[in-house]
Amino acid sequence: MCGIVAYVGPKDAAPILLEGMQRLEYRGYDSAGIVVSNKGLKVRKAKGRVADLAKLVPASFKGKTGIGHTRWATHGVPSDVNAHPHLSSDERIAVVHNGIIENATELRNKLQADGVVFVSETDTEVLAHLLAATVDETSTLEEAVRLALKRVVGTYGIAVIDSQRPGEVVVARNGSPIVLGIGEKEMFAASDVAALVRYTRQVVHLEDGELAVLKADGFHTFASEGLETAKEPLTVDWDAGHYDTGGYEHYLLKEISEQPETVARTLSGRIDERFHVSHLGGLNMDPRETRSFRRVKIIGCGSAYYSGQIGAQLIEELARIPADAEPASEFRYRNPVVDPDTLYVAISQSGETYDTLAAVQELKRKGGRVIGIVNAVGSAIAREVDGGVYLHAGPEVSVASTKAFTSTAVAFALIALHFGRVHDLSPADGRRICAGLRKLPEQIEEILKQGDRFKELAEKYAHHPSMMFVGRVRGYPVAREGAQKLKEISYIHAEAYPASELKHGPLALINPELPTVAIVPDDELLDKNLTTLGEIRARGGKVLMVGHREPEADLADDVIVVPKNEIELDPILLTIPLQLLAYHAAVALERDVDKPRNLAKSVTVE
Ligand code: AGP
Repeated sequence: MCGIVAYVGPKDAAPILLEGMQRLEYRGYDSAGIVVSNKGLKVRKAKGRVADLAKLVPASFKGKTGIGHTRWATHGVPSDVNAHPHLSSDERIAVVHNGIIENATELRNKLQADGVVFVSETDTEVLAHLLAATVDETSTLEEAVRLALKRVVGTYGIAVIDSQRPGEVVVARNGSPIVLGIGEKEMFAASDVAALVRYTRQVVHLEDGELAVLKADGFHTFASEGLETAKEPLTVDWDAGHYDTGGYEHYLLKEISEQPETVARTLSGRIDERFHVSHLGGLNMDPRETRSFRRVKIIGCGSAYYSGQIGAQLIEELARIPADAEPASEFRYRNPVVDPDTLYVAISQSGETYDTLAAVQELKRKGGRVIGIVNAVGSAIAREVDGGVYLHAGPEVSVASTKAFTSTAVAFALIALHFGRVHDLSPADGRRICAGLRKLPEQIEEILKQGDRFKELAEKYAHHPSMMFVGRVRGYPVAREGAQKLKEISYIHAEAYPASELKHGPLALINPELPTVAIVPDDELLDKNLTTLGEIRARGGKVLMVGHREPEADLADDVIVVPKNEIELDPILLTIPLQLLAYHAAVALERDVDKPRNLAKSVTVE
């Protein structure tokens, strides 16, 4: 949540900051602000998007050192005054912050008792005043930041400038990411490489507890105790093109359309036809250890959790190891029993989700063996786990997850195959799954070709205030993800139920005004699912069926047919029409598709 950008170098900072902030808007977009240093600090901040802020920044807003921020509110409503940067009372220090300062009230009370007047409702403002109180007692800005942060409990990624030290920026990290970008006689920092790749692909990730001082000619990093640390720059693979809409109207449509390639990338080099196994070297596990686990427990949040439900079924079906998924946000708070014979799998596209990270840390503290399924290379969760599988899906910018969802399900199929083949999955079944995995990119392409049909159907159903999604066993997580996509981007209320549960309560809701999207794969549960459709239709409910063939009887108002794969892999393909229905419904309702209200892409707060 919240995006930070910093610049120091020979150019004007403002355009660089604004451009970088636009790239980070997926992290938060309720208000934005920038400050540059030029004979004092010049500040502009405003409620709204970065584009609104840009209109308030005149050509005369010059300064070669600056920091910027795009916000997702935690303390205090979105407003001009609560927008970052926050300044000390003497306007000497400016700070931008991502994270939560847990002892902000206590610090605020102490500072107020010393006569400091606060102007905003934010937790961040205490940092500006703490720094102002420290900065004269130290010889360097980094030392002042280090000492001030010693009084802070909570999570932060921060960037700080001091009007009396133009030409330097100090950044620090604890729980919220900070990446340095190394340019030619210029330095950058940001919450994500997305803001940097237009200028440099040489980056340095700060660790928790580290801080860095940036000057045009280079950087130094320090541990929290003040000793200098040695950091080697990495070259990032992604370039600015990965962060463009690529000619699509929205990032979401681009990311849905990329799935043939992203799924192919998740699979690339990982299928071994000789033994019909998968190669997942990143798991750091030999066959003996792989055999030793008696259970698999999967944790993640939101769509990551739903993809984990698909994963649990794949592992149970292919490896015959008991597996289940649970929201990481619940798991971490229930003092979980950590079992040495259980393999824990944490899923996160961003690798930053705070609840998932905290659950991983709790597991590790209790001695659990944790692997990760993560998209963002080098992210906090990727670094915390004992091994894992990277998705290689490329940056996912739109707040609603699509390509990361399908790639996660594919990664689970690879994990299930890997575990299955060291247990009892036969070579014939291994071959069948390998062949099915290879077919996926082409089959996704076939689904995407039905583009106009999804638009027509979405427009037909989008005026309903509420929709029901149902699926059985393999279809249930698909239904949950379909409902999640629809509600988060179109704001149509949607509920997902196991089809088998309908008659135990929610059938009472069915009427002509509440359409049902039914996931009906051609598997051993087909007849049961068709019976459910009959029960819905008998109550006057409309049915939009997503499956592998038209039902013989008149059981659905509309049918979307997707290509058939192996029954274990079908959920991956059945998800894609639901992404497109949600997308076109959101467009039909003129929603802000890529930045839905109240949400942010990376949920780095509790
Ligand atoms: C997905 O569409 C949502 N925006 C959200 O549920 C997301 O999947 C969740 O917050 C987890 O994010 P992560 O994968 O980055 O951890």
